[in-house]
Amino acid sequence: MKPLGTPLSPAATKVMLLGAGELGKEVIIALQRLGVETIAVDRYDNAPGHQVAHRSYTINMNNPDELRTLIEQVQPDLIVPEIEAISTSVLAEAELSGTRVIPTARATQLTMDREGIRRLAAETLGVPTSPYQFCETLESLQGAIDGGIGYPCVVKPLMSSSGKGQSKVEGPDDVSAAWDYAQEGGRVSQQRIIVEGFIDFDYEITLLTTRSLQADGSVRTDFCAPIGHTQVDGDYVESWQPHPMNPEALAKAQEIALVVTENLGGLGLFGVELFVRGDEVWFSEVSPRPHDTGMVTMISQWQNEFELHARAILGLPLNTALRSPGASAVIYGDIDADMVVFEGVDEALAVPQSDLRLFGKPQSFSRRRMGVALAYDADLDKAKASAQKVASLVRVRKA
Ligand SMILES: Nc1ncnc2c1ncn2[C@@H]1O[C@H](COP(=O)(O)OP(=O)(O)OP(=O)(O)O)[C@@H](O)[C@H]1O
Ligand SMILES: [Mg+2]
Repeated sequence: MKPLGTPLSPAATKVMLLGAGELGKEVIIALQRLGVETIAVDRYDNAPGHQVAHRSYTINMNNPDELRTLIEQVQPDLIVPEIEAISTSVLAEAELSGTRVIPTARATQLTMDREGIRRLAAETLGVPTSPYQFCETLESLQGAIDGGIGYPCVVKPLMSSSGKGQSKVEGPDDVSAAWDYAQEGGRVSQQRIIVEGFIDFDYEITLLTTRSLQADGSVRTDFCAPIGHTQVDGDYVESWQPHPMNPEALAKAQEIALVVTENLGGLGLFGVELFVRGDEVWFSEVSPRPHDTGMVTMISQWQNEFELHARAILGLPLNTALRSPGASAVIYGDIDADMVVFEGVDEALAVPQSDLRLFGKPQSFSRRRMGVALAYDADLDKAKASAQKVASLVRVRKA
């Protein structure tokens, strides 16, 4: 790996973040601390990451021409996708012409599409997943359910995130509404959906997994302590670390994460989403980048997931150790407005062993994530209660 340079000079190490939301913002801050020149790209002006990068651009990253032109102009050493909605063919071109794409162009391509990653995990790697089928019509969806998937099941667009277009089907009366909802909620207009058998799990975790370079040039894999989380309508509302797991389930979870991330390859941090019931573990999906539920690591680890990602992609050593049990709770906008203010931050930060991030998003929507509350405590339940208290004390108001 070439040595780190001086930002804003011809010797700079230039990293281009594609996506500059709250996760990208933290990756940029971690890179800034290592003297890396950062270029933040998002689809709207004044995105959180734009506010902390050396340079920022607003483009439609799904438009191949716009993205290609910007990459040619910036000439980054590394391209770091932070969202899924990117023209991945342009990433593949960039990689072919010698620019490193994190973790690899192929990984970004496979994971942006539920069909790519599901077939890889279940059919190529033999990892346990929920039963699934891909369907192109309402009739074939009904056929898949009747033919073995059964009820309850979950219908999802092939390309979507944060639960968009996704619904649980309890019985025959729900099927056509689920089909319509998936058609509306997909990122691109398309017909194909995935239907998955519903896994009645005890709990779900994110296993943050790093692939980093060792001194001899080989890649090592490390795991953070499992992160537990609760999802409401496909969006995470609270997370905590470590989630207690029996040793057998933990070993299976790590084995699945190892197999999947080894196949995706490259360097960086991955968020492996898993469902657990007793000793059984199912792979759900994987982000080849920091994970929203992993924001808890900003208080629970010595090196948070963003610092781990920054180190890994730069070829530097890292440490995934836990510092203290901790928890995070999402602060939602609750209102639709431009120019909001946050009341109660003083009361919130008076909660002992707590911290807070306000993302600085220029616009608030009721279900938009505007900030996150963090707390640590040797007693995990106390950490969770504190994080929730901090979140509840922050109130978003119109300016
Ligand atoms: N087959 C399933 N069985 C049980 N629960 C499921 C299943 N699929 C999804 N879920 C629930 O819905 C949540 C969101 O699903 P999934 O991760 O596939 O969607 P997503 O849109 O990619 O969400 P995100 O982008 O937030 O990760 C899961 O974390 C889990 O709680
Ligand atoms: Mg998910």
